[in-house]
Amino acid sequence: MKELPELPGRLRELMLGAGYTVDGVRERLGDVAAAALAREETIPALRATREGDTLGTLIRLWWLGVPVEAPRGLPVDALLAEGLVAAEGGRIVSTVHLQPWETGGYVVSDRKVRPGGPALRADHVVGAGGASANLAQLASRRPVGRALDLGTGCGVQVLHLADRVGEIVATDVNPRALELARLSWALSGVEGVDARRGSLFDPVAGERFDLIVSNPPFVISPRARFSYRESGFAADGFCRDLVRLAPRFLTPGGTCHLLANWLHVGGEDWRDRVGGWLAGTGCDGWVVQRDVQDPAEYVELWLRDAAEQGTPRYRELYDDWLGWFASMNVTAVGFGWITLSASGTLDPVVRVEEFGGRVELPVGAYVDEILASIGEAHRVSDEELLGARPAVARGVVEERSGPPGAEDPARIVLRQERGLRRAARVGTVEAALAGVCDGGFPLDPLLSAIAELTGEDPCDLRSRAPQLLRPLIAEGFFHISTG
Ligand SMILES: C[S@@+](CC[C@H](N)C(=O)[O-])C[C@H]1O[C@@H](n2cnc3c(N)ncnc32)[C@H](O)[C@@H]1O
Repeated sequence: MKELPELPGRLRELMLGAGYTVDGVRERLGDVAAAALAREETIPALRATREGDTLGTLIRLWWLGVPVEAPRGLPVDALLAEGLVAAEGGRIVSTVHLQPWETGGYVVSDRKVRPGGPALRADHVVGAGGASANLAQLASRRPVGRALDLGTGCGVQVLHLADRVGEIVATDVNPRALELARLSWALSGVEGVDARRGSLFDPVAGERFDLIVSNPPFVISPRARFSYRESGFAADGFCRDLVRLAPRFLTPGGTCHLLANWLHVGGEDWRDRVGGWLAGTGCDGWVVQRDVQDPAEYVELWLRDAAEQGTPRYRELYDDWLGWFASMNVTAVGFGWITLSASGTLDPVVRVEEFGGRVELPVGAYVDEILASIGEAHRVSDEELLGARPAVARGVVEERSGPPGAEDPARIVLRQERGLRRAARVGTVEAALAGVCDGGFPLDPLLSAIAELTGEDPCDLRSRAPQLLRPLIAEGFFHISTG
């Protein structure tokens, strides 16, 4: 951008001065117009911004995308020269979506397409949406030295990382994405981001990072029409290669967080498919399937995303996509999180699970803990476990239920009130352990006491206990200390 860095500075000053911030917009629009906007309905927001004041005009210009009289102080000539606005009659209309960001910054992307509007361009730069928020919530909160944002798009992940990472490299294949991302960072006062163009890990060959994040072009479709969501790799091959290659770019102890889609193919367990991507990487891994859609739902979702419903090509695209899935015997598509940890162990473990429940956000605040629990449960030997001091995790509660008047509960559930909020149905032994384990005593004598109370054979209990406790350690209900 020719005018950089002067243009972003002037623009930022004007927008902040006018109250074009997350709070300012929220206050001006109010709940009803904001909720309508989330449903893609702009009329309530247009009503709330019709006064002609600077804030209302900026919301109309950058967010609602309607022609406006340029407000005083807006560097119109520079914006025209950079192609960020276009002249329309005596007014200006923005060519991008420029929205205030939580951290006091701004995110610049292409405008969303609406049904009946102009078609999506092939190099469309997608804005900060639900998937970006998902990835940001998943990424580890640990301050680190070097991070990579692969497929940076509008640059929003960098804004999330900027306050806890020393040096950030952001890559993308789409030059327009890098251009808009640079503007997002400049308008947000984030300096020194190393932006590089190229596919997958090509731009960072031979380098290592403490943290890698990627919200990749994960959409699985017969052809790559839009670079923001389709990579051109066959089926789910982009996500597979991302997972397989990432460990080579992690420093010891580093972590990588990705969003991904994967195929469910008839006769194959999806867990084996995705688990296979992580096998042999040498990293500990955690794969969570958060959602599954059948082929028709999936195709409709992405045709809607490109506002193609109701267009002349809708039927043909839909049919073609479904036929392609059928030719590969695809029964569904999974969406989820993949986390890799370069723990340096000689005995890595990969946990693949389906978990759609509501979790405490941000997951990143406790994702390192989750990986540590999975690794610990896998690597602790039975003997070590019997000698270890277990403690029930903070926030675990017990729920008992059964028929009214029954002496013993028919069902005992341990439930986490924080973190992933998992629930596990347990037997009386695990429930008794949860009642007494505070990290003060080794497991072995606790089991003897429980055997005495329940009348179980102590040897039996001792041999059963590791297999009862290990899954509960992996799922974070118990922690152990072996020192
Ligand atoms: C879903 S967008 C993610 C944007 C942003 N990081 C976010 O979280 O919202 C995916 C990005 O990956 C980029 N991309 C597509 N193919 C790629 C490839 N082969 N290598 C690297 N990036 C790619 C796209 O241009 C797009 O900007």
